[in-house]
Amino acid sequence: MISQNTIQQILSRIDVVEIVGSYVKLKKRGANYLGLCPFHNEKSPSFTVSPSKEIYKCFGCGKSGNSISFLMDLEKYSYVEALRWLANKYNVEIEETELSPEQKIQQQSADSLYIINSFAQKFFSDYLFNTEEGKNIGLSYLEHRGFTEATIKKFQIGYNPEARDVFATAATHAQYNQELLLKTGLVTVRDERLVDNYRGRVIFPIHNQSGKVLGFGARVLKTTDKAPKYINTPENEIYVKSKILYGSYFARQAIDKADECLLVEGYTDVVSLHQAGIENVVASGGTSLTPDQLRLVKKYTDNLTIIYDGDSAGIKAALRGMDLAFEAGLNVKLVLIPDNEDPDSYVNKVGADEFREFIAANKKDFILFQLSVSLKDAGTDSAKKAALVNQVAETISKINKAEDFTKQQDYIQQCSEILKIEESGLHTLVNKFIREKITKEEGRINREQAADDLAASTAPVDDEALLLFNKDELNERAMVRALLEFGIKQWDETITVAEHVFAEIRDWNLEEMIDNKKLISLINNYRALYDEGAVPTPKTFLYNDDLEVSALVVSLMDDQYELSPNWKEVFEGKINTREDLYKEEVFSTVNYLKLRKIKRMMDENQRDLEKFHTPEEQLTLLQVHQHLKKTEIELTKQLGTVIFR
Ligand code: CTP
Ligand code: MN
Repeated sequence: MISQNTIQQILSRIDVVEIVGSYVKLKKRGANYLGLCPFHNEKSPSFTVSPSKEIYKCFGCGKSGNSISFLMDLEKYSYVEALRWLANKYNVEIEETELSPEQKIQQQSADSLYIINSFAQKFFSDYLFNTEEGKNIGLSYLEHRGFTEATIKKFQIGYNPEARDVFATAATHAQYNQELLLKTGLVTVRDERLVDNYRGRVIFPIHNQSGKVLGFGARVLKTTDKAPKYINTPENEIYVKSKILYGSYFARQAIDKADECLLVEGYTDVVSLHQAGIENVVASGGTSLTPDQLRLVKKYTDNLTIIYDGDSAGIKAALRGMDLAFEAGLNVKLVLIPDNEDPDSYVNKVGADEFREFIAANKKDFILFQLSVSLKDAGTDSAKKAALVNQVAETISKINKAEDFTKQQDYIQQCSEILKIEESGLHTLVNKFIREKITKEEGRINREQAADDLAASTAPVDDEALLLFNKDELNERAMVRALLEFGIKQWDETITVAEHVFAEIRDWNLEEMIDNKKLISLINNYRALYDEGAVPTPKTFLYNDDLEVSALVVSLMDDQYELSPNWKEVFEGKINTREDLYKEEVFSTVNYLKLRKIKRMMDENQRDLEKFHTPEEQLTLLQVHQHLKKTEIELTKQLGTVIFR
């Protein structure tokens, strides 16, 4: 368990814009930030982040929450994992109270893999620079390829010696657990002994977004070897290939600056381009891009330029899955490197300036390129050609029409030219795919709706949303929100808002004043904390590990109450914020609930009066009525302001 103290430290540093912003490109809009919702597919932004409330809300799909629920939702983290992620991000040292044995093992596993990888990276680097074999074989190879010492050190490239088990022995000596060592793929078991897996190879460490080593790519040196050219880390708790782009740690800022991401195939391509000063570059490892990798790119830029060598089998791989990129709204360009060169050899041959010029001059549109390659492949086979037309139409249909109408029109025109078919025919086909997509989309939404309806009967948040249509409920929520937000402000010279509220409701049974049990328990929680001398704010409850409480607070903070225009008139044209009017808000929300209770009591009294009573009883009831009526009039007079949405 993470200690309360640690949790408080983490919470005090949370910046919702920064956290959401590391997944979603956010633009400032007034007091809030706006971006494309990461929870559903959209082309125009409806995802809002409020830094002051520390929450986000999507007006498209309705998802809302705080920094922690964001991480839980997007990364599928548990509450505790999200806290750990945040602790790491904000350099908060985690203080542990007792962990359960399973928790210990699971947490240790991922942590240990990072630790072993870091140990291995240092071991390999050290071996490269400080041993005869490392220098004679590894370093001389790398230098021969033109990598400078600075580059080798920056990318932390290393060397694993040829003998059976030099690394395995060092790791065993350092007391690393055998099972975990096997998980890293650095060693393997031969004849019941641990032996090195990357013998006689140069080692490229692969870093995560914060620079920690996730795994390695190990390149063979001898050309005669029948062994595979690269051996890569097997999938484990931290190395998930589909989420990794090699070089992203080093490229991040340059991509941001250039507003373009260059995608190459290999480790050496990334390293060489970097050395040449072209730093906005990442590698896919020669496989087709996955949605997670595209999302990683999209985090930084909308412009993806794929740079492959002309004959590479990798192009075919990259072509697959490119529809995803269009759907994601990425602008994809392609540059082919000529004459059997790859980006690494080409930049070494022509130099950085010429390389840049070549890229700029040879960017081809990806869709058109895809088409001409496939057309060449199809030859005279008319069945293949028909299939190709279909495929092209489908790809074009995925360009968002509303946003990029001309782009779509241009594609239709250019593609029909290349294919030598009627433009209107292709148009019809594209429209067919668009319609199919919409139908599918609707099906999906309907299914989701049905699922939501089902969930609403149990899920607390949805329940809340439904009740929002209820004015009484709205006002209960407004009162609790005012307490949470303004409770620690002064009411007058002597008491705080919270103390004022508690005094106001002291003689009113809370259960009869507020219907929503969860709101009552929130008030009671607040009071308990306050009485202990704490300074409760919405944030105190926003990150509650009881997700029901946290969801309730998120939805409260999300409500858009406003004081009626009367008040603004009273303040003579000055537009006041809620902050300015907090006393009025507290006053009127509390009084509204009192008034409501009075009305309910009067109704009850009325019903009672309609029954048979002795004259004395009747008199009492009438007196009660008069008393209630008087209170009602007083309250109404004082109220003056109505809270509404
Ligand atoms: N790759 C791999 N396993 C292989 C071959 C290739 O994982 N057996 C991946 C590596 O990520 C490699 C990329 O595909 O970097 C591109 O392969 P290739 O062009 O053959 O290697 P380069 O990186 O260009 O290496 P070099 O320049 O040393 O040939
Ligand atoms: Mn190469």
